[in-house]
Amino acid sequence: MAIFDKFQQLAAARKEIAQNCNSFFNIVMEEIISGTEAVVNGRPTILAGSNNYLGLSFDSGCIEAACEAARKEGTGTTGSRMANGTFSGHVALERELAEFFKRQGAIVFSTGYIANLAMLSTLVGPGEIILLDADCHASIYDGCRLAGAEVHRFRHNDPQDLEKRLRRLEKRNTNILVVVEGLYSMMGDRAPLADIVAVKEKYGAYLLVDEAHSLGVLGANGRGLAEEAGVEDEVDFVVGTFSKSLGAIGGFCVSNHPELNLVRYASRPYVFTASSSPSVIASTRKALQLLKTRTELRQRLWENANMLYQKMQNLNFLVGPEPSPIVAVRLKGKAEAFALWSGLLEHGVYVNLVLPPATPDGNCLLRCSVSAGHTPEQMERICQAFTAVRELTAVPQAV
Ligand SMILES: Cc1ncc(COP(=O)(O)O)c(C=O)c1O
Repeated sequence: MAIFDKFQQLAAARKEIAQNCNSFFNIVMEEIISGTEAVVNGRPTILAGSNNYLGLSFDSGCIEAACEAARKEGTGTTGSRMANGTFSGHVALERELAEFFKRQGAIVFSTGYIANLAMLSTLVGPGEIILLDADCHASIYDGCRLAGAEVHRFRHNDPQDLEKRLRRLEKRNTNILVVVEGLYSMMGDRAPLADIVAVKEKYGAYLLVDEAHSLGVLGANGRGLAEEAGVEDEVDFVVGTFSKSLGAIGGFCVSNHPELNLVRYASRPYVFTASSSPSVIASTRKALQLLKTRTELRQRLWENANMLYQKMQNLNFLVGPEPSPIVAVRLKGKAEAFALWSGLLEHGVYVNLVLPPATPDGNCLLRCSVSAGHTPEQMERICQAFTAVRELTAVPQAV
């Protein structure tokens, strides 16, 4: 058997998609016009699938901070955090994150993916147990694999199912880490965090919340779902990313556990990869400041989110359970999904087309995400595009 033979099924699936939706694999942002618009297939296109929730990727202060850092400190650190790759900016950002989240400690990682890989693989190991929500992100699943711990899934957003499993595992008398997300990345629904906290406390388990999509989006100060739900003190570890509301790239974990720093010495994804470049750290620090001070961005984000969610409901599309900056349209068949996605692109709107097995419940998804940076005109054009494709296709009405 040749080395690529195992990809035959994948190649066939790819071919089927390419035949039915020929631009799916060829999307290139040919020219970036702004945080919410790019040239795609030679046409100006509104970006309604990016996770640029606060629209900060084009903030002039963030860009200036990045340029200045590159001029002063170079384009890259060319080393791991553990060796030559910790610059004063990394340490300052860790201090600022700890302060913002009101926690004792913070660790900055090179991406959000690496943050989950690092934290999960270090916190739990063989003989210990991870209990994760079934809809958790791939980085959490991959962290579980690297951990070598026993992994159990509980039903999505079902604290009773979590409790049932904790009750069964209680007699094992080992460390159990429960893992959930703040806002789930596919359907944009919140975790029932207060109930999950109550259950994990009852059984003496630890809790890690990935606030990748909720940082800057939820909570009176933008600290995420734990803040909104009033349970920050009960969450042992908050993981997040700089690649969404902070408009850059990178990841972090904050915690009140005094031993958090030990993760730095035990975590392969921390030790064996280069640290973030100075420009990324500088723009992230600036973005964090803006997240704190420019509260009108969060307000604008939610106005846009509520508007699109309402519009989708009016058009009778099947959307997620609650309004959120992630508005996911559920479609049963690939044919409809391809037709709608292509139609939206022709109308100058890019959204994410997500196909099973990457989706919950085996549905196809048109996953839209709105930004505080979307202007009223852009929001109107997104709504018009959905109205147009709704009329153009024979998609069955949602029930
Ligand atoms: C819930 C969740 N966690 C972690 C990540 C990884 O973050 P990053 O893309 O910044 O590496 C993502 C990315 O989409 C995510 O949705």
